[in-house]
Amino acid sequence: MFDLEPPPSPSPLATMVPSQDDLKRVAAHRAVELVESGMVIGLGTGSTAAHALDRIGDLIRSGALRDVVGIPTSEWAAARAAAAGIPVSDLNAHPVVDLSIDGADEVDPALNLVKGRGGSLLREKMVEGTSRRFVVIVDDSKLVPRLAASGLAVPVEIIPFGWALTLRRLQSLFDGVPGFNLKLRTASIDAKATTFDEKGSDSEPFVTDNKNYIADLFFENGIHGDLRVISDAILRITGVVEHGLFLGLASSVVVAQKDGVVVVVV
Ligand code: 5RP
Repeated sequence: MFDLEPPPSPSPLATMVPSQDDLKRVAAHRAVELVESGMVIGLGTGSTAAHALDRIGDLIRSGALRDVVGIPTSEWAAARAAAAGIPVSDLNAHPVVDLSIDGADEVDPALNLVKGRGGSLLREKMVEGTSRRFVVIVDDSKLVPRLAASGLAVPVEIIPFGWALTLRRLQSLFDGVPGFNLKLRTASIDAKATTFDEKGSDSEPFVTDNKNYIADLFFENGIHGDLRVISDAILRITGVVEHGLFLGLASSVVVAQKDGVVVVVV
């Protein structure tokens, strides 16, 4: 028989330190304060956006919000919205969105973003790019001095046809950039935590909601140079659909900090 001891009681400090998920919830709930009855809302994708969707659902159920329509940025967001009781529609019926709320993988000091490590960058950019206001919700771990310097990917959505050729063209675009590398994302990879060296190529390609593939671009020292020029150059490659650099799209960023302070950067 095991000699069981009572579990140690948690230290008072442990109960005071918010988890990363607590911070995501705090940022999400602050952004949802901007939602008003009658609005068309862009519904983001990911673990931070999940808190916003659930909160909007709670407010609809309590009667505090009426006649809200959500435009999901992914199949995942559509399913989460349905579970939360948010009525959903699409960009054909609602080409102008009043307010989008979504997380991000990285935010730089100019409020440029990397998004799409969850794979939903195309629909996210379409919905958030047509929003009157796009509020980004993050915990403070997402703030970076320079995009992509963490060693994690900048995702590029590409069509499956001729994907190896598209990868070669992307490689050529960044030839000579020290520390540049790229790989086709595979289904077994956690793109939010995996750097180039850890990224195997031993399984099926990751397939987006749009039935496309993702090329993950890695910049060992972060992206240097004019981001708009780089963005345009990537988009000019035939076979590229969209990339995860969100430049000048964020209206504001709600940052939940570990010290309990919530900062809104505009
Ligand atoms: C998905 C995204 C997400 O917004 C981004 O990955 C952040 O996710 P999380 O809130 O789970 O950290 O761009 O394509």
